[in-house]
Amino acid sequence: MTAIDTSVTPPVVTLNDGVRIPQLGFGVWQVPDDQAQPAVETALRDGYRNIDTARIYGNEVGVGRAIAGSGIARDELFVTTKLWNDDQGYDSTLKAFDASLERLGLDYLDLYLIHWQQVDRGAYLDTFRAFQKLQADGRVRSIGVSNFTQPTLTTLIDTLGQVPSINQIEVHPYFQQRALHAFDVEHGIVTEAWSPLGSGAVLGDPAIGAIAAELGVSPAQVILRWDIQKGFVTIPKSVTPERIAQNFDIFGFELSEEQIARIDGLDRADGRTGPNPDTF
Ligand code: A2P
Repeated sequence: MTAIDTSVTPPVVTLNDGVRIPQLGFGVWQVPDDQAQPAVETALRDGYRNIDTARIYGNEVGVGRAIAGSGIARDELFVTTKLWNDDQGYDSTLKAFDASLERLGLDYLDLYLIHWQQVDRGAYLDTFRAFQKLQADGRVRSIGVSNFTQPTLTTLIDTLGQVPSINQIEVHPYFQQRALHAFDVEHGIVTEAWSPLGSGAVLGDPAIGAIAAELGVSPAQVILRWDIQKGFVTIPKSVTPERIAQNFDIFGFELSEEQIARIDGLDRADGRTGPNPDTF
């Protein structure tokens, strides 16, 4: 069972390596570099301390500038970036890590993720071996994966004897990934939800709208609250200051069991909005 400290706002999740991550973070997928800096500055002012980027987003520089200018102590921040597909492999991973850290202007990272499993490339094990070295050297506190499926996770765990701390996958009410989430829980892997709002697709759902009206909150707040109560770490993206603030303001209300059950019922076989890890 994953430990979640709810005495703080946002709650903090303890990963299987003892590292603590705020359960609500800020994602910057599809945010151009020049917009990333003001967006992250706004998020940090609003209280977000968990920032999620990736090399492929092309905005590590903007994210780093916002962090540097914030005046927030480094150890109060939790910064994640991800290794891109063509950097997979042992030596190339070590190089890519240095380059990401330099762009971010940081001297260590909180969490490094393999962005996609890329099974056909055959390099995810060597990539994770390089992650283990980076962790042993104290350059990254926690190491995990993104968009990994159950068979690939099983091979990684059985071969390397280390369980990734996080599996960051597409999760939202239309695509709940119950089997993979259950596998993660069983193995002590925290599931982190990317595109928690379904890239906006779930916001107009009538059932979500009805619950939002019942509680006097917005549809985005209902969905993010569902993430929190389900135990996901969640990283909504927005470049709109009002929405950035609104998405952080989800700790003054709770969904009832019955409201959660209604959202659970929205899962769809065709709910995926992003690529399938088996073919991407
Ligand atoms: P924008 O960035 O223009 O504010 P996801 O995190 O699932 O990828 O969803 C991101 C999308 O949802 C973006 O298009 C973002 O728009 C939009 N979005 C984020 N927060 C809210 C909100 N509170 N209300 C409405 N739309 C939102």
